[in-house]
Amino acid sequence: MVQLKGNNRSAFVASMFGRISRRYDLLNTLMTVGMHYIWRRKAAKLAATHVTGDILDVASGTGDFAFDLLKHSNVKIVVGLDFSPEMLDIAIGKSVRLGFEGSFIPVMGDAHFLPFPDERFVSTTVGFGARNFSDLPKALADIVRVTRRGGKVTVLEIVRPQGKLASVLFLGYFGWVTPKLGRFFAGDYEAYNYLPESVQNFMSATQLSEILEGAGLRNLVVETKGMGSIAIISGKRP
Ligand SMILES: C[S@@+](CC[C@H](N)C(=O)[O-])C[C@H]1O[C@@H](n2cnc3c(N)ncnc32)[C@H](O)[C@@H]1O
Repeated sequence: MVQLKGNNRSAFVASMFGRISRRYDLLNTLMTVGMHYIWRRKAAKLAATHVTGDILDVASGTGDFAFDLLKHSNVKIVVGLDFSPEMLDIAIGKSVRLGFEGSFIPVMGDAHFLPFPDERFVSTTVGFGARNFSDLPKALADIVRVTRRGGKVTVLEIVRPQGKLASVLFLGYFGWVTPKLGRFFAGDYEAYNYLPESVQNFMSATQLSEILEGAGLRNLVVETKGMGSIAIISGKRP
């Protein structure tokens, strides 16, 4: 699967998330022992602090990052963009249950071709989405384009840990445990086989920071969690 590029990769990823959409939240909780909620809240705080204006959450999926942003009283509108209608459907249902109907705006679209004018948002976020993009520098360039000058871009992502022991434990966990959890709970071995593949081929926090800088972001704040396997990186558009 990892050899897939461009439109083929996008089609594969969209269809895979469509298939697992109903189990996505549960599997996230099982795989991270609930830690994904804490990591997202932390990233949302970085993204929402000292901002006044609308926020864009790219690869919004079932909406949890968007809802964590909306829990900050200064955040009134979050646009949640995703190319999987099934994932967005779940997000819409949750937004009604959480009372965010009207403040969560779902938009179907591709992160590489954002359907928004330049500098439309004061802050832009991507939670566990960057690893799936077929052309990360291109998607980031578009994300920076729609972010206001002086605004920020915050990325939360699984990364390759730096230390040898952490690397071995992490790859063993993602390579062995997650496909089995996926097969058992989601009945979809392929989807949860994709996760370790996408992680193995993904970058370290340092490499991801360099790509964000390459997209024009400055004053990067980098935090790692989960024995270095999770990165929260926030940068300003100058
Ligand atoms: C792992 S989920 C993350 C969902 C959510 N942000 C979270 O924190 O749980 C990745 C999401 O990215 C979406 N996605 C992947 N590539 C995308 C792209 N090129 N454009 C839009 N959405 C994309 C998938 O459909 C999926 O919903």
